[in-house]
Amino acid sequence: MNYEPVLLARINKPRSQQLEGYRQDGGYETFARVLREMKPEEVVARVKESGLRGRGGAGFPTGIKWAFLPKNHPGPVYLAVNADESEPCTYNNRILMEKDPHQVLEGVLISSYAIQARVAFFYIRYEYGDAYRILHESIDELYQSGLLGQNILNSGYSLDIVLHRGAGAYICGEETGLIESLEGKRAWPRIKPPFPAVEGAFRKPTIVNNVETLACVTQIMRRGVEWFRSLGVPPDPKNPRDLGSYGPKLYTLAGHVNEPKCVELPMGVTVRELVERYGGGVWKGRKAKAVNPGGISMGFLRCDLPLKNGEGTEYDIPLDFNGPGRAGCLGLGTGAVTVIDDQTSMIDVVHNVCQFFSHESCGQCTPCREGTGWMLKIMERLRRGRGRREDLDILLDVAERIGIIPGTTICGLADGAGWPVKTAIRKFRDEFEAAIREGKVSRYVRPLEVVA
Ligand code: NAI
Ligand code: SF4
Repeated sequence: MNYEPVLLARINKPRSQQLEGYRQDGGYETFARVLREMKPEEVVARVKESGLRGRGGAGFPTGIKWAFLPKNHPGPVYLAVNADESEPCTYNNRILMEKDPHQVLEGVLISSYAIQARVAFFYIRYEYGDAYRILHESIDELYQSGLLGQNILNSGYSLDIVLHRGAGAYICGEETGLIESLEGKRAWPRIKPPFPAVEGAFRKPTIVNNVETLACVTQIMRRGVEWFRSLGVPPDPKNPRDLGSYGPKLYTLAGHVNEPKCVELPMGVTVRELVERYGGGVWKGRKAKAVNPGGISMGFLRCDLPLKNGEGTEYDIPLDFNGPGRAGCLGLGTGAVTVIDDQTSMIDVVHNVCQFFSHESCGQCTPCREGTGWMLKIMERLRRGRGRREDLDILLDVAERIGIIPGTTICGLADGAGWPVKTAIRKFRDEFEAAIREGKVSRYVRPLEVVA
């Protein structure tokens, strides 16, 4: 596929972060034109027409989300930028913030104008220290050049950006957890509805958008709706509810791959092409056994499992909003593709995943708090060679029952904890059963742990 990157076009330029260089490349001309020539509702309409869907994981249509803001609200309304990128192996937002912060900030300015926000909160995860410092400088540059603050470019429109650094918890990326944290409280997700677009930060309507989504807004307003819709995958004509997967996507490659990196391609590239062509193949000459198509919460593809429609194996799944779902995964998620080679035990992988979710559960909902801990305890048993025959069915049962989809929890963290367990056991049951039968001890278990 011959594709010239757009979102990542500037990242290798010297001093790509600086305002001067960004402006030499035409930066902020789009924002100035939007302020001069377009009404806010025209911008919303343009983004709706483009078919842009949120890049943070859920794929909700951005223009439709903006249009959910209550009409004639006395204000204020807020934009909250979700830069709490914490899904394991996901780092596309970090690359954008560190290497081309002004492309993201131009998207923040255009989007804030579209929804008529006077304050945009930029919530960045604590661990992204470099990105935080770079953004700090970039926002200062904008104030100094009159692109932020009062009466921007004499348009009558005013905007402030508040850069807020998180304190390091996965749940702060859940939009209502983020809002609680922004308000200075513990990041306990809220029950939805009301959705933040109706009642968000400080109980005011708030649009929460991901960093990559906002960079896409900059490019849509610069290059046009036609350009955006010329990339990616149109809706399936047989499915009237399908919204299509338009535009470019930043995929991050991680795990047992020769060249872990962030790659920009039109939506719909297959896992095989991404790994073999863009990631240099699986490391050490091994084969791909399993792949997470978009962060660990999405579950696993089994690379040698034939697809029902006869179109190859799960390794040939296209990475658009529909593809991973056709192979039993939760969705495209963040587009973080993690490769697991054929010499790695799925028990070790799932144990690691369970450790993560049990640690990150905020503990508000009993099914999530206890369920993630229960799954971890069983996986702990399995990796010590002490698994029981009934363990797999208990794991499946717990994984099925926790989450917002079965309706037992407040947020989607528990679904994300259940999906990798369910897909791993369903697709690799032989491996799990053999390990239980043979009392196989993981090579990562220290001798003292076996007797403990
Ligand atoms: P969701 O489907 O509940 O919501 C998606 C967005 O649409 C939200 O902003 C929500 O407010 C809005 N929305 C949905 N229905 C609405 C309505 N009727 N009215 C107004 N607004 C509405 O998904 P959620 O829980 O926000 O996100 C889950 C996704 O996040 C997962 O699929 C996962 O991939 C991803 N995720 C991403 C991480 C990252 O590091 N980027 C980390 C963890 C999870
Ligand atoms: Fe917290 Fe888990 Fe409930 Fe989400 S599902 S609110 S992480 S306990």
